[in-house]
Amino acid sequence: RALSRMELKWDGTERMTVDYVKGILQPTPTCDSWDQIWDFQARPDDLLICTYPKAEGTTWTQEIVDLIQNEGDVDRTHRAPTHVRFPFIEWIIQSIGSGLEHANAMPSPRTLKTHLPFQLLPPSFLEKNCKIIYMARNPKDNLVSYYHFHRMNKALPAPGTWEEYFESFLTGKVCWGSWHDHVKGWWEARDQHRILYLFYEDMKMNPKHEIRKLGEFIGKKLDDSVLDKIVHHTSFDVMKQNPMANYSTVPAKVMDHSVSPFMRKGEVGDWKNHFTVAQNERFDEDYQRRMAGTGLTFRFQF
Ligand SMILES: *[C@@H]1O[C@H](CO)[C@@H](O)[C@H](O)[C@H]1NC(C)=O
Repeated sequence: RALSRMELKWDGTERMTVDYVKGILQPTPTCDSWDQIWDFQARPDDLLICTYPKAEGTTWTQEIVDLIQNEGDVDRTHRAPTHVRFPFIEWIIQSIGSGLEHANAMPSPRTLKTHLPFQLLPPSFLEKNCKIIYMARNPKDNLVSYYHFHRMNKALPAPGTWEEYFESFLTGKVCWGSWHDHVKGWWEARDQHRILYLFYEDMKMNPKHEIRKLGEFIGKKLDDSVLDKIVHHTSFDVMKQNPMANYSTVPAKVMDHSVSPFMRKGEVGDWKNHFTVAQNERFDEDYQRRMAGTGLTFRFQF
């Protein structure tokens, strides 16, 4: 296989560069391998977990799904770090590995991860009628979380100042594109395909209920004690201390948890500690215009 130029060069000591794939910003190695990613061969029993980046629900959903599949057996879910258990199909980083190659080599049944917007999803997932779990988070908390993730993760470009990042997010000039288009694209697709569309805020509010829903979608009937066990092991505090879920196994030159930990706060409404009044007004005005008529509603606080 021909290694892409960034893949050969990028070792985590400098910031990742980005480029466009069909109008969507992506890390350069993803762009360079785009044809292979687009041709990815899904298998009918693949389960795909999809989120906009740093919906913080990504890692959370992955952990929940793994515990459901293993009927609450925590030792099984401690077998490997998150990014090894769930290949991230469009993620290609030399010091961590190629999610694409890792997925191709993995025996079935596979649970895979993507951040791709619906229009960039490799077509074979739909052709094979794979089950897909989509998790969305309110955009204000998502923005804050993504900003801090940029700060600590050299595999993304530097975020700039908070003010600059705020504008980049609103104009969709961030990796994986506009939040608004992402949540809308998957929302519109949900009825035509086997997509379970979930909300982070619902998971926070009533994890047991959402975990049961996930279990039904996956096809696992879980008794009450297993559900309670999964709720406990996927609580923020437990996951933050779980070395197989808190990304502490990724080289520190790539993710620097001293800048901002991967598992940061996991709260609903933390955006209030970041947004100025003017930013909030601007955000709301833009949000109402772009989300009108979608039928999608988000909770920004409890
Ligand atoms: C990850 O978990 C390990 C083991 O509990 C802990 O020592 C470490 O501080 C955690 N890392 C972060 C960044 O929270």
